[in-house]
Amino acid sequence: MRENRLQPNLDPHSLARELSNRLLIDGTLRPALSGRRFAVVNPATGAAIADAAEGAAADVALAVDAATRAQKLWAKTAARERGKLVAECGRLLNEHSEELGRLIALETGKALRTESRIEASVVADIFTYYGGLGSELKGETVPFRPDMLTLTIREPIGVVGAIIPWNVPVMLMALKIAPALVAGNAVIVKTAEEAPLAALRACQIMNQLLPPGVFNLLTGDGPGCGAPLVAHKGVGKVTFTGSVETGKIVYHAAADKLIPVTLELGGKSPMIVMGDADIDKAVAGAVAGMRFTRQGQSCTAASRIFVHESVHDSFVDKLKGKVDAMTMGDPLDEATDIGAIISKPQFEKVKSYIRIGEETPGMRAWRCSAMPKDPRLMDGLFVQPVIFTGATNDSRVAREEIFGPVTCIIKFRDYEEAIAAANDSEYGLAATIWTRDLKTALDATHRLEAGFVQVNQNLVVQANLSYGGVKNSGLGKEASLEAMLEHFTHKKTIIMNMA
Ligand code: NAI
Ligand code: MG
Repeated sequence: MRENRLQPNLDPHSLARELSNRLLIDGTLRPALSGRRFAVVNPATGAAIADAAEGAAADVALAVDAATRAQKLWAKTAARERGKLVAECGRLLNEHSEELGRLIALETGKALRTESRIEASVVADIFTYYGGLGSELKGETVPFRPDMLTLTIREPIGVVGAIIPWNVPVMLMALKIAPALVAGNAVIVKTAEEAPLAALRACQIMNQLLPPGVFNLLTGDGPGCGAPLVAHKGVGKVTFTGSVETGKIVYHAAADKLIPVTLELGGKSPMIVMGDADIDKAVAGAVAGMRFTRQGQSCTAASRIFVHESVHDSFVDKLKGKVDAMTMGDPLDEATDIGAIISKPQFEKVKSYIRIGEETPGMRAWRCSAMPKDPRLMDGLFVQPVIFTGATNDSRVAREEIFGPVTCIIKFRDYEEAIAAANDSEYGLAATIWTRDLKTALDATHRLEAGFVQVNQNLVVQANLSYGGVKNSGLGKEASLEAMLEHFTHKKTIIMNMA
């Protein structure tokens, strides 16, 4: 251990100040070479809570140098030993779980009780899970010729660039760095402008255990820091979560270097409620699936809900009732279910989609839940959840990713019509079907065009289950053993002539 053991700091405001103006490069917390910084804002109040260091190409170069050196030694560490250290990070992150949850709530506006605390606990679980997989980095022997020993081995790629968004910053970082590290790579994380602090804190915690340079964290903006990371010749793989638009830019830049890319992009996930479904369960599933507690800022948000005409009205009434009963407020308050939208541009984007929906003929907006009354939150980015009824699948609110607390209910008459409409989307991340009929359920699981399909439930990504989309929702899988093997190693074939 290189620093005195960190103690959890349960005051997120003081922790945010402590983490100000720091990048993590080669095991050392330091400002950007340029000395530049930018403000990190609490979306629930509009107040600045910290400055983040504005990393740029020169910092990328330093981090790549450190990572390149560290990776050579790290790759020589036995795979199980690497796994043990990563699992140990999980244990330490678990000790800091409450602290991380509070910091996530402060910088992202996600409610502590319903979202941020859960994210922090999942982070520890992801490290624990991958930490156990060191010995699964196996190759094969191949029956090529009797006088030759032919085998494959899994080798690390080298230095991995990991670009993460702001909606679930620490969990999405964990899904990238834990498998990359266990596989023997070094990692450079680039956090989102809006939410750099909790990810930095998690790395500071891990820095107590892992060799310097094996992972590095840069804060900074996309073009100024993310783009030079992708472009750097020392980076051999990029793993990205974010928008389709930026994902394509990253993919193009990676193509110029011919390096592999994993992309976790957007979604417009359908939920089909059949006439025979358990309506109460389906309503609860819609609330969970739409991630109203995350202000709808989820790539898997159930933002297109197809409801059979025979149960439409009761489904809508019950859903309105449930969402109406949720409490909007200070993300750090235990009574709060729904917090604030991450940033002003995102807030404006969500509100513009609500206007578009309201102006669409035939559609009606049901605003649920009450705006917070606390005067401290008057400048906060709060948006009342909106349920659109009378929507059609060709309306803009049903086609484009809003990434806000807005869902549309689309009435259908016939199962075939619902499946066709569900698949009529540029996206294919997640989908659910709600029915008591096994035959319908099985048929839908085969026919829904999505990477993650569930029947009668709407769970989030889980460690050990492959997760990733088809169509514009992305390339490649995360969260599973396969993700580690396929995305963070390459296979080498070896032939030994024994003759
Ligand atoms: P974004 O895709 O622009 O940002 C994601 C990450 O990419 C951030 O770390 C950003 O700094 C980085 N980045 C931006 N430009 C880059 C470049 N040229 N090279 C390398 N890295 C770059 O997403 P943004 O602007 O925060 O949100 C826009 C929309 O994207 C949202 O409204 C939502 O629809 C979608 N989104 C989807 C997410 C998901 O989980 N799939 C997460 C966040 C946003
Ligand atoms: Mg952007």
